[in-house]
Amino acid sequence: MSNIPNNNTRVFERLSDAAQWTAMVKLHKTVKEYKHAEVYAKLEFTNPMGSVKDRIGRHLIRKAIANGRLKPGDTVIENSSGNTAMGLAMMAVEYNLKCKIVVRSTTAKAKLDALRAVGADLVLVDPTLPPEHPDSYNKKVHTILSQHPEYYFPDQHNNLDNNETHYLTTGPEIWQQMSGKIDYIVAGIGTGGTLSGAAKYLKEQDPNIKVVGVDPVGSVFYTYFKTGKITKPAGYLIEGLGDEELIKCMDFKYLDDIIQVSNEQAFKYTRLLAKQEAILAGGSSGAALYGVISLIKSLPADKLYRIVTIFPDSGNRYLSTIYNDDWLLEKGINLKEV
Ligand SMILES: Cc1ncc(COP(=O)(O)O)c(C=O)c1O
Repeated sequence: MSNIPNNNTRVFERLSDAAQWTAMVKLHKTVKEYKHAEVYAKLEFTNPMGSVKDRIGRHLIRKAIANGRLKPGDTVIENSSGNTAMGLAMMAVEYNLKCKIVVRSTTAKAKLDALRAVGADLVLVDPTLPPEHPDSYNKKVHTILSQHPEYYFPDQHNNLDNNETHYLTTGPEIWQQMSGKIDYIVAGIGTGGTLSGAAKYLKEQDPNIKVVGVDPVGSVFYTYFKTGKITKPAGYLIEGLGDEELIKCMDFKYLDDIIQVSNEQAFKYTRLLAKQEAILAGGSSGAALYGVISLIKSLPADKLYRIVTIFPDSGNRYLSTIYNDDWLLEKGINLKEV
């Protein structure tokens, strides 16, 4: 348990090598009223491009280069809420690849600007199109691939190397940082790669560890887990979480429970994190914190529970949205008091 390297004192050959051993911090004021829980958050926005997705960018691209599927000059294409795109863009720079990203036009402007700054070519799609439409977020990549079969599509939603990334890195880091004393891990589900991969590793170390996912209202995962049924997807504002259809990387066998979160609940806790912990994180972190607090409220106060959560990206990317009262009011959410 004691071999934890201090990332801050290390020198890395490549930027992507620094995507590891992110800080784990204990939360205080946001959870202070719950005496039967200690909550620890893994700050994935301390990765070089600012999110948990740097890890899969590195793993997926290095694997494709190692097995000969990718070589310098080739094009990588992916659909991403922006964070995987940043991880892939980093790898594209390192390995002289071209990077084309299909992204919803409503994605926070700061994310789109950052992507363009590191050389990604963006294909903006209308998020209101139904999933079966050839120009929808989920189908557009395939539409482009049918014209350019030579492009490499990592397919973060269905490529189990996504889960392997977290099995090999995020899970072991959490285990060591927590000295193996963990009761729950709570995290948002986007592709499901982070939670499924880390959960697999953690449950192998200690089968008593319970895994709780967090899913936005409007996504299909919550109802599927609870009832086995697929609901009609509806739009929501929390970037990076949920989906309109089931995907391979979300492996429900590692899930013990799932909590549903609304835009307002997620954004309220995102803003509380900034105000009360000085953790400037994105909306999926607030969603995760909401999940943690809902879980704590449901637990009997018979022991001290150690809960780990994951904060996937930084609030810098959402200053014009979640942290902007006018933007929220336009969406019918009033968080001026938070
Ligand atoms: C901001 C943000 N939070 C959470 C997630 C979820 O991570 P995963 O895809 O590993 O489930 C993502 C994924 O895109 C994300 O961009």
